[in-house]
Amino acid sequence: MLDQLEAQAPDALLALIKMYAQDPRDDKIDLGVGVYRTNDGATPVFRSIKSAEQRLVDTQDSKSYLGPEGDLGFVDALKPYVFGADPTMGGRVEGMQTPGGTGAVRLAVALAKAAGVTRIHLGVPSWPNHAQILQDVGLEAVTFQHAKADGAADIDALLQTIADARDTDAVLLHGCCHNPSGVDYTEAQWARIADAFADKGILPILDVAYHGLGQGLEEDVAGVRKVLAKVPEALVAYSCDKNFGLYRDRVGAFYMIAKQAADLPAIVSNANALARANWSMPPDHGGAAVRTVLTDEELTQQWLDELDEMRARMRRVRERLAAADNEVPGLNLAALGEQNGLFAMLPLTKEQIVRMREDHGVYMAGSGRINVAGLHAGNTDKFIAALADVTAG
Ligand code: LMR
Repeated sequence: MLDQLEAQAPDALLALIKMYAQDPRDDKIDLGVGVYRTNDGATPVFRSIKSAEQRLVDTQDSKSYLGPEGDLGFVDALKPYVFGADPTMGGRVEGMQTPGGTGAVRLAVALAKAAGVTRIHLGVPSWPNHAQILQDVGLEAVTFQHAKADGAADIDALLQTIADARDTDAVLLHGCCHNPSGVDYTEAQWARIADAFADKGILPILDVAYHGLGQGLEEDVAGVRKVLAKVPEALVAYSCDKNFGLYRDRVGAFYMIAKQAADLPAIVSNANALARANWSMPPDHGGAAVRTVLTDEELTQQWLDELDEMRARMRRVRERLAAADNEVPGLNLAALGEQNGLFAMLPLTKEQIVRMREDHGVYMAGSGRINVAGLHAGNTDKFIAALADVTAG
């Protein structure tokens, strides 16, 4: 039986981690998987999280089961950051903890399917796992173009997609810091998107995986809130893996926004059943650490400061790259200064991407995506020189 299985290609992004590790060059540059790095190239545990973890060690008296919904203290503590001044939206929001943003996206897609959604529209390029999750859950992915060649969002493609959608369609959007392009909708565009969803009445699924790493905590969810203010129902997938640096601890949340509070118990019971069948219960530790941070004023401030520092550093890298626009003609590096988050797409050929790796030790995704957080004062000039070399002539 098992010998009938055909070998699958390893996940290309995760395979890059191994290739990079095996490269003996001291000046190699890792721009692959999406983790934040400091100016020294490190991905340290947040100071606020370390303190919270210490408190957990000192005070946690049981690791007994919590249930498929996980730590609801964590889920509730996040709500004001996502939903704003009325974090329950008049009692229309309920949430649960999930294993990372992936778990949240999976629940969103599976719940949408259980509710009768048959197809999900997805702007491309997107995070490759979106399409994999859709396929695994058994929903058709219908694609539209996310960004235009000039580095701005293709708002017309999205509005047309919503206008033409069937009643049983949903649309999956990145809330901020689009992965892989870094191209976000502007506030004015989000207002039009919100109106389009409201007119059409189809289900929005909003994936917020890099909250606070674009323009700011409030700014990064302003678009999501505009949509939520206009639509009767929505699903939100949220990740704390990046904005709390908890990657391998797998910390996510899934929020369901119902037409009315009375609908929530049935909706939540379906999400619980799906979670139970998928992972039974989410891993506790990271969510408990986030709850500890967000329910303590001092730790919250420390976390906010850490997030500010990360965002400011990535802005500086983006500014440096944008300023190098003339040094590498044809790549539109200037647009990177306007984009958000960890990622940007460079229009390099497959051969040029291989040369970046083989000739210069620069590891980037095969799609042309770079993680700008992998760049810092010590390696950015080398990176720009490598780009100039592979694109010359
Ligand atoms: C990425 O896109 O690099 C991250 O979201 C990590 C992942 O799981 O793919």
